[in-house]
Amino acid sequence: MRMRIVAVGGGKGGVGKSLVAANLAIALAEGGARVVAVDADLGCANLHALFGIERPRHTLGAFFAREADTLGELAIATSVAGLELVVGSGAIVGAANISWAQKQRLLRQILALDADVAVIDVGAGTSYNVLDIFDVANVRLMVVSPTLPSVQNAFSFCKGAVVRALRQAFVDAGVDPALGERRETERLTATIARLSLQHPALGARIAHALSHFNAMIVANQLTRVEDLDLVHALCRMTHDFLGVSANIVGQIYQRPAIAQSVIARRPFLLGAERDDPEARMFRRMARTLLDGVLAEPGRASKALPPAGGPDMGAFDLDPSALRAHPRHAADWAATLETENGIVEGMIADVSENGVRFIGPCGRPIAVSGTAIVCVAGFSGAAEASVRWVSAAEGGRLVVGLELTGGSLTGEILTKSALRYAAAG
Ligand SMILES: Nc1ncnc2c1ncn2[C@@H]1O[C@H](COP(=O)(O)OP(=O)(O)O)[C@@H](O)[C@H]1O
Ligand SMILES: [Mg+2]
Repeated sequence: MRMRIVAVGGGKGGVGKSLVAANLAIALAEGGARVVAVDADLGCANLHALFGIERPRHTLGAFFAREADTLGELAIATSVAGLELVVGSGAIVGAANISWAQKQRLLRQILALDADVAVIDVGAGTSYNVLDIFDVANVRLMVVSPTLPSVQNAFSFCKGAVVRALRQAFVDAGVDPALGERRETERLTATIARLSLQHPALGARIAHALSHFNAMIVANQLTRVEDLDLVHALCRMTHDFLGVSANIVGQIYQRPAIAQSVIARRPFLLGAERDDPEARMFRRMARTLLDGVLAEPGRASKALPPAGGPDMGAFDLDPSALRAHPRHAADWAATLETENGIVEGMIADVSENGVRFIGPCGRPIAVSGTAIVCVAGFSGAAEASVRWVSAAEGGRLVVGLELTGGSLTGEILTKSALRYAAAG
Protein backbone atom coordinates (compact mmCIF):
# COMPACT_ATOMS: atom_id res chain seq x y z
CA MET A 1 0.00 0.00 0.00
CA ARG A 2 1.38 3.35 -1.04
CA MET A 3 1.36 5.96 1.67
CA ARG A 4 -1.89 7.92 1.82
CA ILE A 5 -2.36 11.33 3.29
CA VAL A 6 -5.26 12.47 5.42
CA ALA A 7 -5.11 16.23 5.91
CA VAL A 8 -7.15 17.74 8.69
CA GLY A 9 -8.09 21.38 8.22
CA GLY A 10 -11.16 23.50 7.97
CA GLY A 11 -10.21 27.05 8.58
CA LYS A 12 -11.14 28.30 11.98
CA GLY A 13 -9.00 27.80 15.09
CA GLY A 14 -10.47 26.10 18.13
CA VAL A 15 -12.96 23.91 16.29
CA GLY A 16 -11.06 20.75 17.23
CA LYS A 17 -8.77 20.07 14.26
CA SER A 18 -5.90 18.90 16.44
CA LEU A 19 -8.20 16.90 18.65
CA VAL A 20 -9.74 15.15 15.67
CA ALA A 21 -6.33 14.61 14.04
CA ALA A 22 -4.92 13.02 17.21
CA ASN A 23 -7.84 10.72 17.92
CA LEU A 24 -8.35 9.76 14.30
CA ALA A 25 -4.65 8.92 14.00
CA ILE A 26 -4.99 6.67 17.04
CA ALA A 27 -8.09 4.99 15.63
CA LEU A 28 -6.35 4.42 12.29
CA ALA A 29 -3.38 2.84 14.07
CA GLU A 30 -5.73 0.67 16.15
CA GLY A 31 -7.31 -0.32 12.85
CA GLY A 32 -4.03 -1.80 11.72
CA ALA A 33 -2.41 0.98 9.70
CA ARG A 34 1.12 2.25 10.32
CA VAL A 35 0.43 5.90 10.98
CA VAL A 36 2.54 9.02 11.30
CA ALA A 37 0.79 12.09 12.64
CA VAL A 38 2.43 15.32 11.48
CA ASP A 39 1.81 18.61 13.21
CA ALA A 40 2.10 20.98 10.28
CA ASP A 41 0.26 23.76 12.09
CA LEU A 42 3.00 26.32 11.56
CA GLY A 43 1.21 28.91 13.63
CA CYS A 44 0.19 27.04 16.76
CA ALA A 45 1.70 23.60 17.04
CA ASN A 46 0.16 21.66 19.91
CA LEU A 47 -0.50 18.14 18.69
CA HIS A 48 2.29 16.82 20.93
CA ALA A 49 0.58 18.32 23.97
CA LEU A 50 -2.50 16.22 23.24
CA PHE A 51 -0.25 13.17 23.50
CA GLY A 52 1.26 14.36 26.76
CA ILE A 53 4.68 15.00 25.28
CA GLU A 54 6.06 17.86 27.36
CA ARG A 55 9.32 19.10 25.92
CA PRO A 56 9.86 17.46 22.60
CA ARG A 57 13.50 17.36 21.56
CA HIS A 58 12.91 16.76 17.87
CA THR A 59 10.55 19.14 16.14
CA LEU A 60 9.86 20.47 12.67
CA GLY A 61 12.02 23.41 13.74
CA ALA A 62 15.06 21.16 13.39
CA PHE A 63 13.86 20.25 9.91
CA PHE A 64 13.54 23.89 8.86
CA ALA A 65 16.94 24.67 10.46
CA ARG A 66 18.34 21.79 8.35
CA GLU A 67 19.45 19.90 11.44
CA ALA A 68 17.43 17.01 10.10
CA ASP A 69 17.15 15.98 6.46
CA THR A 70 14.01 13.90 6.57
CA LEU A 71 10.75 14.01 8.49
CA GLY A 72 11.15 10.32 9.17
CA GLU A 73 14.12 10.90 11.44
CA LEU A 74 12.07 13.39 13.45
CA ALA A 75 9.20 10.99 14.05
CA ILE A 76 8.96 9.97 17.68
CA ALA A 77 7.07 7.03 19.18
CA THR A 78 3.78 7.63 20.98
CA SER A 79 2.07 5.47 23.57
CA VAL A 80 0.04 3.91 20.75
CA ALA A 81 1.49 0.97 18.84
CA GLY A 82 1.88 1.80 15.17
CA LEU A 83 1.57 5.55 15.67
CA GLU A 84 4.47 7.97 15.44
CA LEU A 85 4.40 11.71 15.70
CA VAL A 86 6.32 14.51 14.02
CA VAL A 87 6.11 17.40 16.46
CA GLY A 88 5.43 20.87 15.11
CA SER A 89 7.69 23.83 15.46
CA GLY A 90 6.02 26.14 17.89
CA ALA A 91 9.33 27.50 19.04
CA ILE A 92 10.33 29.20 15.80
CA VAL A 93 8.99 32.70 15.59
CA GLY A 94 7.75 33.34 12.09
CA ALA A 95 7.49 29.65 11.29
CA ALA A 96 4.07 30.39 9.87
CA ASN A 97 5.83 32.20 7.05
CA ILE A 98 8.19 29.57 5.75
CA SER A 99 9.76 30.22 2.38
CA TRP A 100 8.56 28.62 -0.81
CA ALA A 101 11.64 26.38 -0.93
CA GLN A 102 11.08 25.25 2.66
CA LYS A 103 7.50 24.47 1.91
CA GLN A 104 8.42 22.37 -1.12
CA ARG A 105 10.92 20.51 1.03
CA LEU A 106 8.27 19.89 3.67
CA LEU A 107 5.77 18.65 1.08
CA ARG A 108 8.35 16.34 -0.51
CA GLN A 109 9.21 14.94 2.88
CA ILE A 110 5.59 14.37 3.80
CA LEU A 111 5.19 12.41 0.58
CA ALA A 112 8.33 10.41 1.41
CA LEU A 113 7.24 9.30 4.90
CA ASP A 114 7.48 5.58 5.51
CA ALA A 115 3.96 4.78 6.71
CA ASP A 116 0.59 3.56 5.47
CA VAL A 117 -1.17 6.76 6.41
CA ALA A 118 0.06 10.23 7.33
CA VAL A 119 -2.43 12.31 9.29
CA ILE A 120 -1.54 15.96 8.90
CA ASP A 121 -2.84 18.68 11.15
CA VAL A 122 -2.62 21.60 8.74
CA GLY A 123 -3.67 24.23 11.25
CA ALA A 124 -5.99 27.19 10.94
CA GLY A 125 -6.30 29.74 8.19
CA THR A 126 -6.56 29.61 4.43
CA SER A 127 -3.05 30.79 3.55
CA TYR A 128 -1.15 29.26 0.64
CA ASN A 129 0.97 27.24 3.06
CA VAL A 130 -2.07 25.61 4.56
CA LEU A 131 -3.75 25.04 1.20
CA ASP A 132 -0.58 23.59 -0.31
CA ILE A 133 -0.46 20.93 2.35
CA PHE A 134 -4.16 20.27 1.97
CA ASP A 135 -3.54 19.92 -1.74
CA VAL A 136 -1.27 16.89 -1.58
CA ALA A 137 -3.76 14.96 0.55
CA ASN A 138 -5.73 11.94 -0.59
CA VAL A 139 -8.45 12.74 1.92
CA ARG A 140 -9.32 16.27 2.92
CA LEU A 141 -11.08 16.36 6.25
CA MET A 142 -12.71 19.62 7.22
CA VAL A 143 -13.50 19.96 10.89
CA VAL A 144 -16.38 22.30 11.63
CA SER A 145 -18.27 23.31 14.71
CA PRO A 146 -21.93 24.26 14.40
CA THR A 147 -21.46 28.01 14.30
CA LEU A 148 -21.84 30.33 11.32
CA PRO A 149 -18.21 31.58 11.39
CA SER A 150 -16.92 28.03 11.44
CA VAL A 151 -19.12 26.96 8.56
CA GLN A 152 -18.21 30.06 6.54
CA ASN A 153 -14.54 29.44 7.26
CA ALA A 154 -14.79 25.83 6.16
CA PHE A 155 -16.57 26.92 3.01
CA SER A 156 -13.87 29.42 2.01
CA PHE A 157 -11.23 26.88 2.93
CA CYS A 158 -12.87 24.33 0.66
CA LYS A 159 -13.24 26.92 -2.05
CA GLY A 160 -9.53 27.71 -1.86
CA ALA A 161 -8.73 24.01 -2.21
CA VAL A 162 -11.14 23.57 -5.13
CA VAL A 163 -9.63 26.53 -6.95
CA ARG A 164 -6.19 24.95 -6.50
CA ALA A 165 -7.45 21.69 -7.94
CA LEU A 166 -8.89 23.58 -10.92
CA ARG A 167 -5.60 25.35 -11.48
CA GLN A 168 -3.93 21.93 -11.66
CA ALA A 169 -6.54 20.83 -14.21
CA PHE A 170 -5.69 23.87 -16.37
CA VAL A 171 -1.99 23.02 -16.20
CA ASP A 172 -2.65 19.36 -17.07
CA ALA A 173 -4.91 20.30 -19.98
CA GLY A 174 -2.44 22.93 -21.25
CA VAL A 175 -5.05 25.68 -21.07
CA ASP A 176 -4.22 29.21 -19.95
CA PRO A 177 -5.53 29.61 -16.37
CA ALA A 178 -6.44 33.21 -17.21
CA LEU A 179 -9.42 31.71 -19.01
CA GLY A 180 -10.70 30.50 -15.69
CA GLU A 181 -11.14 33.96 -14.26
CA ARG A 182 -14.62 34.21 -13.00
CA ARG A 183 -17.21 36.87 -13.32
CA GLU A 184 -17.82 38.64 -10.07
CA THR A 185 -20.84 36.80 -8.80
CA GLU A 186 -20.66 33.66 -10.89
CA ARG A 187 -20.93 30.37 -9.01
CA LEU A 188 -17.88 28.20 -9.40
CA THR A 189 -20.13 25.47 -10.78
CA ALA A 190 -21.34 27.89 -13.46
CA THR A 191 -17.76 28.83 -14.37
CA ILE A 192 -16.92 25.16 -14.70
CA ALA A 193 -19.93 24.51 -16.91
CA ARG A 194 -18.96 27.44 -19.13
CA LEU A 195 -15.33 26.30 -19.42
CA SER A 196 -16.34 22.73 -20.17
CA LEU A 197 -18.27 23.93 -23.20
CA GLN A 198 -15.30 25.94 -24.47
CA HIS A 199 -12.71 23.23 -23.75
CA PRO A 200 -14.10 19.70 -23.50
CA ALA A 201 -10.66 18.28 -22.58
CA LEU A 202 -10.36 20.77 -19.74
CA GLY A 203 -13.93 20.00 -18.70
CA ALA A 204 -13.09 16.30 -18.46
CA ARG A 205 -10.08 17.01 -16.27
CA ILE A 206 -12.05 19.31 -14.04
CA ALA A 207 -14.82 16.74 -13.70
CA HIS A 208 -12.21 14.13 -12.75
CA ALA A 209 -10.52 16.45 -10.24
CA LEU A 210 -13.80 17.33 -8.56
CA SER A 211 -15.05 13.76 -8.40
CA HIS A 212 -11.75 12.70 -6.80
CA PHE A 213 -11.56 15.70 -4.52
CA ASN A 214 -12.36 13.53 -1.47
CA ALA A 215 -13.45 16.24 0.88
CA MET A 216 -15.19 15.07 4.00
CA ILE A 217 -16.64 16.88 6.94
CA VAL A 218 -16.27 16.12 10.62
CA ALA A 219 -18.89 17.94 12.67
CA ASN A 220 -17.42 18.59 16.10
CA GLN A 221 -18.60 20.23 19.31
CA LEU A 222 -22.23 19.39 18.64
CA THR A 223 -24.55 20.02 21.55
CA ARG A 224 -27.83 18.78 20.07
CA VAL A 225 -28.94 17.01 16.96
CA GLU A 226 -30.35 20.22 15.43
CA ASP A 227 -26.78 21.56 15.32
CA LEU A 228 -26.33 19.30 12.34
CA ASP A 229 -28.66 21.44 10.24
CA LEU A 230 -25.93 24.02 9.75
CA VAL A 231 -23.41 21.34 8.87
CA HIS A 232 -25.83 19.77 6.39
CA ALA A 233 -26.22 23.22 4.87
CA LEU A 234 -22.44 23.29 4.39
CA CYS A 235 -22.71 19.99 2.46
CA ARG A 236 -25.36 21.47 0.21
CA MET A 237 -23.36 24.64 -0.33
CA THR A 238 -20.11 22.89 -1.23
CA HIS A 239 -22.06 20.79 -3.68
CA ASP A 240 -24.15 23.54 -5.24
CA PHE A 241 -21.53 26.30 -5.33
CA LEU A 242 -18.22 24.44 -5.59
CA GLY A 243 -19.25 21.24 -7.33
CA VAL A 244 -17.73 18.86 -4.77
CA SER A 245 -19.50 16.31 -2.61
CA ALA A 246 -18.38 16.53 0.98
CA ASN A 247 -20.14 13.97 3.13
CA ILE A 248 -20.18 14.12 6.90
CA VAL A 249 -17.99 11.23 8.06
CA GLY A 250 -18.18 11.97 11.74
CA GLN A 251 -20.38 13.66 14.28
CA ILE A 252 -18.67 14.36 17.57
CA TYR A 253 -20.57 15.89 20.43
CA GLN A 254 -19.22 18.39 22.91
CA ARG A 255 -18.24 16.21 25.88
CA PRO A 256 -16.64 17.01 29.22
CA ALA A 257 -14.55 13.84 28.91
CA ILE A 258 -13.05 15.18 25.67
CA ALA A 259 -12.22 18.59 27.13
CA GLN A 260 -10.81 16.81 30.19
CA SER A 261 -8.58 14.61 28.02
CA VAL A 262 -6.93 17.75 26.65
CA ILE A 263 -6.25 19.09 30.13
CA ALA A 264 -4.99 15.69 31.28
CA ARG A 265 -2.80 15.46 28.16
CA ARG A 266 -3.96 11.97 27.43
CA PRO A 267 -5.77 11.35 24.15
CA PHE A 268 -9.48 10.87 24.63
CA LEU A 269 -9.56 7.56 22.78
CA LEU A 270 -7.00 5.99 25.13
CA GLY A 271 -9.06 6.67 28.22
CA ALA A 272 -12.56 6.15 26.83
CA GLU A 273 -14.76 3.14 27.46
CA ARG A 274 -15.05 0.80 24.48
CA ASP A 275 -18.72 1.64 23.97
CA ASP A 276 -18.38 5.38 24.47
CA PRO A 277 -20.36 6.95 21.59
CA GLU A 278 -17.66 9.47 20.64
CA ALA A 279 -14.92 6.84 20.84
CA ARG A 280 -17.00 4.61 18.60
CA MET A 281 -17.48 7.48 16.19
CA PHE A 282 -13.72 8.01 15.89
CA ARG A 283 -13.21 4.29 15.27
CA ARG A 284 -15.99 4.27 12.73
CA MET A 285 -14.47 7.20 10.91
CA ALA A 286 -11.15 5.35 10.79
CA ARG A 287 -12.87 2.23 9.44
CA THR A 288 -14.77 4.24 6.84
CA LEU A 289 -11.52 5.76 5.62
CA LEU A 290 -9.49 2.54 5.74
CA ASP A 291 -12.15 0.58 3.85
CA GLY A 292 -12.95 3.46 1.52
CA VAL A 293 -10.72 6.12 0.02
CA LEU A 294 -7.56 4.89 1.75
CA ALA A 295 -8.01 1.44 0.19
CA GLU A 296 -8.72 2.67 -3.33
CA PRO A 297 -6.16 1.39 -5.78
CA GLY A 298 -4.34 3.76 -8.05
CA ARG A 299 -4.59 6.73 -5.77
CA ALA A 300 -0.92 7.06 -5.12
CA SER A 301 0.47 10.15 -3.50
CA LYS A 302 -0.10 13.15 -5.66
CA ALA A 303 2.39 15.37 -7.38
CA LEU A 304 3.34 18.64 -5.78
CA PRO A 305 0.91 21.43 -6.60
CA PRO A 306 1.81 24.00 -9.23
CA ALA A 307 3.41 27.17 -7.94
CA GLY A 308 1.36 30.30 -7.46
CA GLY A 309 -1.53 31.17 -5.30
CA PRO A 310 -5.15 30.54 -6.10
CA ASP A 311 -7.45 33.12 -7.56
CA MET A 312 -9.80 33.19 -4.64
CA GLY A 313 -12.45 35.10 -6.57
CA ALA A 314 -14.94 37.50 -5.13
CA PHE A 315 -17.63 35.00 -4.31
CA ASP A 316 -18.20 34.11 -0.69
CA LEU A 317 -20.82 32.20 1.14
CA ASP A 318 -23.92 34.24 1.68
CA PRO A 319 -25.34 33.28 5.08
CA SER A 320 -28.86 33.52 3.73
CA ALA A 321 -27.99 30.58 1.49
CA LEU A 322 -27.60 28.50 4.63
CA ARG A 323 -31.21 28.85 5.60
CA ALA A 324 -32.82 25.46 6.08
CA HIS A 325 -36.51 24.76 6.13
CA PRO A 326 -38.12 24.01 9.47
CA ARG A 327 -38.61 20.31 9.92
CA HIS A 328 -41.09 18.15 11.72
CA ALA A 329 -40.48 14.73 13.15
CA ALA A 330 -41.96 11.69 11.45
CA ASP A 331 -41.53 7.96 11.84
CA TRP A 332 -42.66 6.38 8.60
CA ALA A 333 -41.24 3.09 7.44
CA ALA A 334 -39.84 3.76 3.99
CA THR A 335 -37.50 2.45 1.32
CA LEU A 336 -34.92 4.39 -0.60
CA GLU A 337 -33.83 3.21 -4.00
CA THR A 338 -30.64 4.57 -5.51
CA GLU A 339 -28.46 3.37 -8.36
CA ASN A 340 -26.70 1.14 -5.82
CA GLY A 341 -29.82 -0.72 -4.72
CA ILE A 342 -32.69 -0.49 -2.29
CA VAL A 343 -32.34 0.15 1.43
CA GLU A 344 -35.07 -0.12 4.01
CA GLY A 345 -35.27 2.48 6.71
CA MET A 346 -37.49 5.25 7.89
CA ILE A 347 -38.33 8.83 7.19
CA ALA A 348 -37.34 10.65 10.35
CA ASP A 349 -38.59 14.09 9.48
CA VAL A 350 -40.19 16.16 6.78
CA SER A 351 -39.93 19.75 5.70
CA GLU A 352 -41.75 21.73 3.06
CA ASN A 353 -39.44 20.50 0.33
CA GLY A 354 -37.85 17.28 1.48
CA VAL A 355 -37.36 14.45 3.92
CA ARG A 356 -34.64 13.04 6.08
CA PHE A 357 -34.21 9.29 5.63
CA ILE A 358 -32.35 7.08 8.10
CA GLY A 359 -31.19 3.67 7.01
CA PRO A 360 -28.46 1.11 7.42
CA CYS A 361 -25.00 1.93 6.21
CA GLY A 362 -23.48 -0.42 3.67
CA ARG A 363 -24.52 0.82 0.28
CA PRO A 364 -22.76 3.95 -0.88
CA ILE A 365 -25.15 6.79 -1.59
CA ALA A 366 -23.90 9.59 -3.80
CA VAL A 367 -24.63 13.19 -3.02
CA SER A 368 -26.42 14.77 -6.00
CA GLY A 369 -27.58 11.36 -7.20
CA THR A 370 -31.27 10.67 -7.65
CA ALA A 371 -33.38 8.37 -5.54
CA ILE A 372 -36.88 6.96 -5.34
CA VAL A 373 -38.67 7.11 -2.00
CA CYS A 374 -41.56 4.78 -1.13
CA VAL A 375 -43.50 5.01 2.11
CA ALA A 376 -45.10 1.93 3.70
CA GLY A 377 -48.88 1.95 3.32
CA PHE A 378 -48.84 4.35 0.41
CA SER A 379 -48.87 3.52 -3.26
CA GLY A 380 -46.75 5.44 -5.70
CA ALA A 381 -43.34 6.91 -5.15
CA ALA A 382 -41.54 10.20 -4.84
CA GLU A 383 -38.53 11.15 -6.90
CA ALA A 384 -35.81 12.82 -4.94
CA SER A 385 -32.36 14.28 -5.21
CA VAL A 386 -29.76 13.40 -2.57
CA ARG A 387 -28.65 16.62 -0.90
CA TRP A 388 -26.35 15.32 1.81
CA VAL A 389 -25.29 12.07 3.42
CA SER A 390 -24.16 11.83 6.97
CA ALA A 391 -22.97 9.11 9.32
CA ALA A 392 -25.02 8.51 12.46
CA GLU A 393 -24.66 6.51 15.66
CA GLY A 394 -25.09 2.77 15.42
CA GLY A 395 -23.66 2.42 11.92
CA ARG A 396 -26.53 4.15 10.20
CA LEU A 397 -26.67 6.65 7.41
CA VAL A 398 -28.80 9.75 7.41
CA VAL A 399 -29.72 11.02 3.96
CA GLY A 400 -31.14 14.44 3.20
CA LEU A 401 -33.50 14.27 0.22
CA GLU A 402 -35.14 17.00 -1.73
CA LEU A 403 -38.39 15.81 -3.27
CA THR A 404 -38.48 16.65 -6.94
CA GLY A 405 -41.52 14.88 -8.34
CA GLY A 406 -43.56 11.68 -8.50
CA SER A 407 -47.06 10.81 -7.34
CA LEU A 408 -46.16 10.40 -3.68
CA THR A 409 -44.52 13.78 -3.34
CA GLY A 410 -47.78 15.59 -2.86
CA GLU A 411 -48.82 12.97 -0.30
CA ILE A 412 -45.64 13.40 1.71
CA LEU A 413 -45.73 17.15 1.54
CA THR A 414 -49.40 17.20 2.50
CA LYS A 415 -48.58 15.04 5.47
CA SER A 416 -45.87 17.50 6.35
CA ALA A 417 -48.25 20.41 5.82
CA LEU A 418 -50.72 18.77 8.20
CA ARG A 419 -47.96 18.58 10.75
CA TYR A 420 -47.20 22.24 10.30
CA ALA A 421 -50.85 23.01 10.84
CA ALA A 422 -50.92 20.76 13.92
CA ALA A 423 -47.79 22.39 15.25
CA GLY A 424 -49.54 25.70 14.90
N1 LIG B 1 -15.87 17.40 21.09
C1 LIG B 1 -15.33 18.19 22.04
N2 LIG B 1 -15.78 18.14 23.31
C2 LIG B 1 -15.24 18.95 24.28
N3 LIG B 1 -14.26 19.83 24.05
C3 LIG B 1 -13.77 19.92 22.80
C4 LIG B 1 -14.26 19.11 21.73
N4 LIG B 1 -13.57 19.43 20.60
C5 LIG B 1 -12.70 20.40 20.94
N5 LIG B 1 -12.81 20.70 22.26
C6 LIG B 1 -12.07 21.74 23.00
O1 LIG B 1 -11.63 22.72 22.09
C7 LIG B 1 -10.24 22.94 22.27
C8 LIG B 1 -9.59 23.29 20.95
O2 LIG B 1 -9.42 22.13 20.19
P1 LIG B 1 -8.22 21.99 19.16
O3 LIG B 1 -8.24 20.61 18.61
O4 LIG B 1 -6.95 22.43 19.78
O5 LIG B 1 -8.68 23.04 18.05
P2 LIG B 1 -7.93 23.49 16.71
O6 LIG B 1 -6.81 22.55 16.48
O7 LIG B 1 -8.98 23.44 15.65
O8 LIG B 1 -7.49 24.90 16.96
C9 LIG B 1 -9.71 21.66 22.89
O9 LIG B 1 -8.61 21.93 23.69
C10 LIG B 1 -10.87 21.19 23.72
O10 LIG B 1 -10.83 21.77 25.00
MG1 LIG C 1 -4.76 22.89 16.38
